Amino acid sequence: AKVRRYNFNVVQKQANRLCSSKPIVTVNGHSPGPTLYAREGDTVLVNVANRVKYNVSIHWHGIRQLRTGWSDGPAYITQCPIQPGQNYVYNFTITGQRGTLLWHAHILWLRATVHGAIVILPKQGVPYPFPKPNVEQVVVLGEWWKSDTENVINEALKSGVAPNVSDAHTINGLPGPVSSCQTQGGFRLSVENGKSYMLRIINAALNEELFFKIAGHQLTVVEVDAVYVKPFKTDTIVIAPGQTTNVIISATKSSGQFMMVASPFMDSPIAVDNKTAIATVHYTGTLGASTTTLTIPPPQNSTVTANKFIDSLRSLNSKNFPANVPLKIDHSLYFTVGLGINPCPTCKAGNGSRVVAGINNVTFVMPTYGLLQAHYFNKKGVFTTDFPGNPPHVFNFTGSGPKNLATSTGTKVYRLKYNSTVQLVLQDTGIISPENHPVHLHGFNFFAVGKGLGNYNPKKDQKNFNLVDPVERNTIGVPSGGWVAIRFRADNPGVWFMHCHLEVHTTWGLKMAFLVDNGNGPNESLVPPPKDLPKC
Ligand code: C2O
Repeated sequence: AKVRRYNFNVVQKQANRLCSSKPIVTVNGHSPGPTLYAREGDTVLVNVANRVKYNVSIHWHGIRQLRTGWSDGPAYITQCPIQPGQNYVYNFTITGQRGTLLWHAHILWLRATVHGAIVILPKQGVPYPFPKPNVEQVVVLGEWWKSDTENVINEALKSGVAPNVSDAHTINGLPGPVSSCQTQGGFRLSVENGKSYMLRIINAALNEELFFKIAGHQLTVVEVDAVYVKPFKTDTIVIAPGQTTNVIISATKSSGQFMMVASPFMDSPIAVDNKTAIATVHYTGTLGASTTTLTIPPPQNSTVTANKFIDSLRSLNSKNFPANVPLKIDHSLYFTVGLGINPCPTCKAGNGSRVVAGINNVTFVMPTYGLLQAHYFNKKGVFTTDFPGNPPHVFNFTGSGPKNLATSTGTKVYRLKYNSTVQLVLQDTGIISPENHPVHLHGFNFFAVGKGLGNYNPKKDQKNFNLVDPVERNTIGVPSGGWVAIRFRADNPGVWFMHCHLEVHTTWGLKMAFLVDNGNGPNESLVPPPKDLPKC
C-alpha cells in the first residue's frame, strides 16, 4: 500500500458556460476538479488550502473513514470549517473498498462547482470480477446556474419558497449545445471499434436525480457506489446525487457519432425541468461527421424506467465479495422523510410560512461547533441524544393530516451502540407534493433489503425482504410516496451525518446524525484528532 498526496487549492475562477461568464469556486481552477486516484489499502493525504472568501470543507463521499471521522468533511458535523487563508490535511486509509466515488464541498451550496471523482483501483494484481475494459473514463454529471448559487439559495430562504432550478445539466462540466446557447460545445468521448470502455459515472448535481443513456449502445452495469453488482444490461441508468455507477460499453459500430444524454428524473406530474445535457461518443476517424445518431431521454416522470433499473441491482455476492447482510437486528428504526411547512412571519413570497424539511418531524438545526469534537471533548450543550426512533404521530400516507406537516427544531442525534445492527425504514411522506429523497449515510455502506409504495407494513413487508444479495450502497432513493428498508452494522465509531442529497432538502433540514460509541477497545474508538483540525 502506498501513501498518496494531493494538493487541493480552493480558488475562485472565472467560468464560461451557456454563453455567459461568472466567477465560481473551484479546486485547482477546474470544475469538475481533479480526479483522486488510489488503490484499495492506500492512505490518502489531501492538503486543502482555502483561498476563497467562504468557509470550506470537503467530503469524501462513500469513503468509510473507519475510525477517522475527523477526515469525513461535513462542516459542523465532523469538523469546523476551514476558514479563508487556512489549510487542513484530510488523512484517511481506504479499507475494503474499490470502485468509483466522489468528493465534494460539504458546506453552503459550494458543491455546485466544488466536486470531482475518486477512483479506487483494486489492490495491485487483483483483477476486476468482470473482463477488464480497454479504456476507463470518468463521466461527471452536474448542474449549472447562470447566477451565483449562493444567491439562489439565500434568496429562496428569505422568501420561504423553493429556489430556482438550474439553467442546464452538464456532462464533464459541459452542457453541450442547448436551446439557451447553441454554440456551447459538449463533452466528446472518442472510441475505437472492437474496444470496451468503462464509464465511471458520477451524479454531482445539486438537486436532481438523472437518467443517462447513449444512442445505439447498451450499458452493462458492473458496480454502484464502489460495490460490485451482478452485471446486467440496460439502455438507461438512473442515478441520484451522490451515487456512482460503473458501466461498460462495447464499441461495436464501425463509424459514426452517437449522442450521450443526461436528463432529470423527478417523480412528479409537473414538468419543472426538462433540460438535457448532450455529449457525443464518436468513432475514431469520424470526428465532425455531419450526422449524429440521436436518442431521446425518458420522460421526466418515467418511474417505470427508474424502477426497472433500480430493481435490477443485486450485490455480486461472490466468494470474494460476499454480501454480509445483518440478520439479527438490534435497533429497528422507522424514519419519515419529507417536506413540511412552518410559520415564517417575514416570508413574503411564502405568505407567512416557509417550506421546511425533516426526519420524523424534526428539522435539524446546524450547530456552530463540530458534533464530533463536542462528543470527543465532552463539550455540553452542542447536541442532544433524543432523536426519535419513530415519528411523533402515526404516519398514514393516505390520511395526510395537517399535523404531519409542522416540524420541531433541534440538533438531535440518535445513539447506536458500537457494532450493533440497524434496520432503518425510510418512509417518504410526500404530503406537499411528490418528492424524491436520495438519502445518504456517512461512514457506512448499507444493504437495501426492501422497497415499496404507500405505507410500510412491518408484518407484511418484512417477509419479502431480500437478505441474500441486496444491493449495497451509501445513497438510496426513497421512492415518492413509498419507502425503502436498509440494514447496516454500526461498526464505525464517531458521529455520522445522514441527509437527503438534494441540496435544497438538506438546507431545509432533512438531515440528522447517528452517534456511534460505547467502544472500549482500540478498534472501537476514534483515532485522536489531528493537530491541524480547524477551530470554530
Ligand atoms: Cu455527498 Cu453528506 O454528502
